[in-house]
Amino acid sequence: MRKPKVGRLFLATCVGSLFMVILYFQNITRPAVEQSGGKGIAPGKTRRSPLQALYNGDQLDLSAVQTSLRGRRELLEEACLTHTKKRRVLTPDDLRHLIVDDKHGLLYCYVPKVACTNWKRVFMVLTGDGRYHEPLAIPANEAHVAGNLRTLSEYSTSEINRRLRSYLKFIFVREPFERLVSAYRNKFTRSYNTAFHKRYGTKIIRRHRPQPQPDALERGNDVSFQEFVYYLVDPRTQREEPFNEHWERIHSLCHPCLVHYDVVGKYETLEQDSRSVLRLAGADGEVRFPTSGKSTRTNGDMAAQFFQNISPFYQKKLYNLYRMDFLLFNYSNPEYLKTR
Ligand SMILES: *[C@@H]1O[C@H](CO)[C@@H](O)[C@H](O)[C@H]1NC(C)=O
Repeated sequence: MRKPKVGRLFLATCVGSLFMVILYFQNITRPAVEQSGGKGIAPGKTRRSPLQALYNGDQLDLSAVQTSLRGRRELLEEACLTHTKKRRVLTPDDLRHLIVDDKHGLLYCYVPKVACTNWKRVFMVLTGDGRYHEPLAIPANEAHVAGNLRTLSEYSTSEINRRLRSYLKFIFVREPFERLVSAYRNKFTRSYNTAFHKRYGTKIIRRHRPQPQPDALERGNDVSFQEFVYYLVDPRTQREEPFNEHWERIHSLCHPCLVHYDVVGKYETLEQDSRSVLRLAGADGEVRFPTSGKSTRTNGDMAAQFFQNISPFYQKKLYNLYRMDFLLFNYSNPEYLKTR
């Protein structure tokens, strides 16, 4: 019980100074970002990752993969300029999802339901000083133990800024509604996820099911996708507490308009993008990103089925809720939606 308290206290004491230093960081990096059209880099930026060099036009022969990664990053920058209002300052809490690998100079923002277990396993191999070799040999629950990996929010302000400035920063994203359906299936349709049923399921049924059975109210284990959608778009939900990370928007978890990610990997091209990241980090000789043979992955057809029972009114509300994730990561409005 003592440790989290101490942690929180430590964070609280850091907040003030962090504000200022991060503000400083934002100011000095902004020119570099705005120049990324090809003029070169800001003076004083000494250490550059291979990808940063690539983006600044130092290399002429871009492979198709690298070109597509650059396109995504440029699209993200553009979408941020178009769709976000004021630039605000990062707080320590914003950096809770950024996992640090000091040895290879990597920052990875993990997004649940986007291969984050495997990426955490890879980070345990990369940062484990030889303790681990094979990612898939690490049990999934061990990869998720808080404290097994370091997050950027644990560092001092100057250490945070140094890493934000010089490390290769990456994120993996996924089509927002496929991710959402994947979260629903995983947390509400599997009998073993009793913690989620108790914590969220009982509340969803109490609020969004007319005349629920006492057993359902007690166990919360048979939430329908429709009820889950009602819960998400209900204004009370986010007023009471932030969304659980499994359905929180990527935009809110990883702050892609404040943290300028070098690589935006996609779940849809997971294997190829993961390979690119490890190669850019110079870590492709140490670890291979695990390939998954899972055939039960949620895909577009599956998402379409789940959305069949959602009325256009709620589809629209749900789209608006996840709109930023669609826009920032170049996902088009799904064809199965009945909204216009
Ligand atoms: C954005 O998405 C469209 C349509 O799927 C695609 O043609 C285009 O190449 C994408 N742009 C980038 C920069 O990835």
